[in-house]
Amino acid sequence: MSGQVVVAADKTSRVDVERVLGPGSWTLVRDDRWVASYEVESEAVARKLVAHLRADQHPAVAGPPDSARAVAWNNRNRPTRVGMRAEVCFPWVSSEAEIVIEIDPGLGFGVGDHPSTRLLLEELDLRVRSDDSVLDVGCGSGVLAVAAVCLGARQAFGIDINEAGLVAAEANARRNGVADKVQFSSVELTEVRGKYDVVLANIHDATLRRIADELVARVAPKGWLGLSGVSRGQVSRLRSAFPSVDFEEVKEIEEWNALIGRVNIE
Ligand SMILES: C[S@@+](CC[C@H](N)C(=O)[O-])C[C@H]1O[C@@H](n2cnc3c(N)ncnc32)[C@H](O)[C@@H]1O
Repeated sequence: MSGQVVVAADKTSRVDVERVLGPGSWTLVRDDRWVASYEVESEAVARKLVAHLRADQHPAVAGPPDSARAVAWNNRNRPTRVGMRAEVCFPWVSSEAEIVIEIDPGLGFGVGDHPSTRLLLEELDLRVRSDDSVLDVGCGSGVLAVAAVCLGARQAFGIDINEAGLVAAEANARRNGVADKVQFSSVELTEVRGKYDVVLANIHDATLRRIADELVARVAPKGWLGLSGVSRGQVSRLRSAFPSVDFEEVKEIEEWNALIGRVNIE
């Protein structure tokens, strides 16, 4: 039985990848993003090589070892559409979208395809403006913060209690060319200073209710708050935890719900 290693690189990092895997047959999938598949002798060898490449910060993944598993693999590796302009995809996946947001989750949560993430990606696409600052609470892989800037926001700040995920988030900001506009940190929300035009939180319902006052305090006048990650049955209890927010919309995808609101300052 054979294995496969799929790896993405730019012109410079291709050289480093070839030091590990040997000369490859590379396909250009978009601006300076090259992808190669290497056949290796077994799935175990593929996993070992992927771990080696990942330790050196190369986005690599074990490909489908046979055609029977290729269908499932291709389904997992499809880009996620965001509105009319953008797609979120793994670095090794091709996309024809006008705005391509490459996300490799590493040890962080979020590749963009989860319904709770998609709900907020769609809101960003519809609402974000060029002078907006964005706070992403529970940023995971950084997908929302990075997407916010790729979709036009001025800057974004992501925080998470999972420090391992923040390493991936920073790499995602770099690979999308927005590292100068996106920062990540493991600081507590209580330590975050200032207010933001957009405050996003895709976190467990109980956590959203516990940090409700802190979230509201970070929303700038005329800004908006996007909460996601809750079931339909949890929506009314979540609303009650935010008495000062006028929720304009509740959106739903595949039984996941997001609430979008503005702070009532009267
Ligand atoms: C469902 S994931 C969302 C990741 C990403 N924002 C997305 O939309 O795909 C929730 C994230 O919230 C983080 N988290 C949970 N409680 C938190 C808290 N109190 N403060 C900051 N982050 C928290 C978790 O570590 C996890 O990365």
